[in-house]
Amino acid sequence: MATTLDRILQSQGFGTRRYCGDLVAAGLVEVNGELCEDPGARFEVDGLRLMVDGEEWLACTKAYVMLNKPTGYECSQRPRHHPSVYNLLPVPLRQREVQAVGRLDHDTTGLLLLTDDGQFIHAQTSPKKQVPKIYEVTTFDPVTPEQVEALRTGVKLDDEPAPIAADACEATGERSLRLTLLQGKYHQVKRMVAAVGNHVTALHRSAIGGLVLDPALGPGEWRWLTPEDLAALRDGAR
Ligand code: URA
Repeated sequence: MATTLDRILQSQGFGTRRYCGDLVAAGLVEVNGELCEDPGARFEVDGLRLMVDGEEWLACTKAYVMLNKPTGYECSQRPRHHPSVYNLLPVPLRQREVQAVGRLDHDTTGLLLLTDDGQFIHAQTSPKKQVPKIYEVTTFDPVTPEQVEALRTGVKLDDEPAPIAADACEATGERSLRLTLLQGKYHQVKRMVAAVGNHVTALHRSAIGGLVLDPALGPGEWRWLTPEDLAALRDGAR
């Protein structure tokens, strides 16, 4: 449905409707490469290329982004000991109140999804959906075949009634593992590796479902998810 430009800008996180209308009337907004000074002009939202006061913006009804989370950031709106991952996003995305899809520890790096689509968050994080998450784990001690086997067959964690098994586990080096988990329990990788008598010294999430962290993204960088990315996420779910 076509929507007025002031409402579109408001929906994208550029401020109140009145403020957005003023931006348009002041000649600070281009739509698909052309100046538009009418706040009431109507457009379809998705795919609209905006330039707002010099900032390029791709309009979308729901925002889906991937972030290459650096170490030293908390996945919380009210961080306690480290800066928040939300500080790595531009103001319009923060205004839209995108939320992290699950959390990574402050010292974990890699693929973090953020969105303002509550249903998407539920679908990705619901234990019923069993979305595989792939972690590259660096360990303090050398990885033994017994440890890999125990992670594959199941380990007992405090507070968990039944043993928990990795969906897949392989040694990728003398002190490294690739672990695929279907759950997202608190500190799950660190606790599972501790349960087999080793210790995680670095943790990186490389993929969720069929979606791999874009190698072009440096630590702290983000980009929009493409329709292909969203399909890869759906196709990779169990
Ligand atoms: N498991 C952990 O222990 N930490 C993370 O950040 C993610 C999974």
